[in-house]
Amino acid sequence: MKLLFLGDVMGRAGRRAITENLPRLREEWKLDFVVVNGENATSGIGLSGAHAKTLLEAGIDCLTLGDHAFDQKDMLRFVEQEPRVIRPLNFSKAAPGKGARLFTSKNGRKVLVTQVLGQVFMKRPFDDPFSALEPVLKTHPLGGMAQAVIVDVHCEATSEKMAMGHFCDGRASLVVGTHTHVPTADAMILPRGTGYLTDAGMCGDYHSVIGMEKSEPLRRFITGMPKERFTPANGVATLSGVYVETDDRTGAAQRIAMVRNGGLLEAAAP
Ligand SMILES: [Fe+2]
Ligand SMILES: [Fe+2]
Repeated sequence: MKLLFLGDVMGRAGRRAITENLPRLREEWKLDFVVVNGENATSGIGLSGAHAKTLLEAGIDCLTLGDHAFDQKDMLRFVEQEPRVIRPLNFSKAAPGKGARLFTSKNGRKVLVTQVLGQVFMKRPFDDPFSALEPVLKTHPLGGMAQAVIVDVHCEATSEKMAMGHFCDGRASLVVGTHTHVPTADAMILPRGTGYLTDAGMCGDYHSVIGMEKSEPLRRFITGMPKERFTPANGVATLSGVYVETDDRTGAAQRIAMVRNGGLLEAAAP
């Protein structure tokens, strides 16, 4: 299979880059399955049902969320009605929606998508992501019940994400980090066949501070005082993430490539 994962969509600039470019890339790169992190697509905080619909219509098979999963309150209900949106497995015991789902791709292949939140440097404590993920991987063996398994590791620390990559090695086709909004350059295939990238980066305007218009973040860093609200930067966005080709029989990654398309970042394509 040919899989594409794109990092956190940031505000209007990110949504525009998806709707204007993804349908074409999906065809050009003959993608079988596309997963996108949508936790910042609405004003940089959370994802509304309306924006989720717009993104799904642009050719996304599954939207993942993150620590901002329910910042837009209508997502509390929307996530129950729209099975293509999944929230972190370990968000909270009371969270609506699902943290993992087995999808059927357009050509009939089974793809498991799941997301976990990390614990290191996160603003509030979440349950242990490793023990949350273990039963999900166990019940969806790669090359058995699932032709591909995609794990979105939503956390701040590179160490925690790398540990999660090794924890899943041989049991997932792709383990990819989200949340920091800055892409790392370590796309690789781990020894037992799991494609890995520490962070997918964001789909947003990189002339910013991690997607926010730079003046207020700068003021807060320099003076230590807030004055205004953060607003998403609205210049041309870069689509940022990772492309993986998998073996249909084993589910293992055979090829991995960074993706950066449009906007300020140096281009990269499969
Ligand atoms: Fe996040
Ligand atoms: Fe984010």
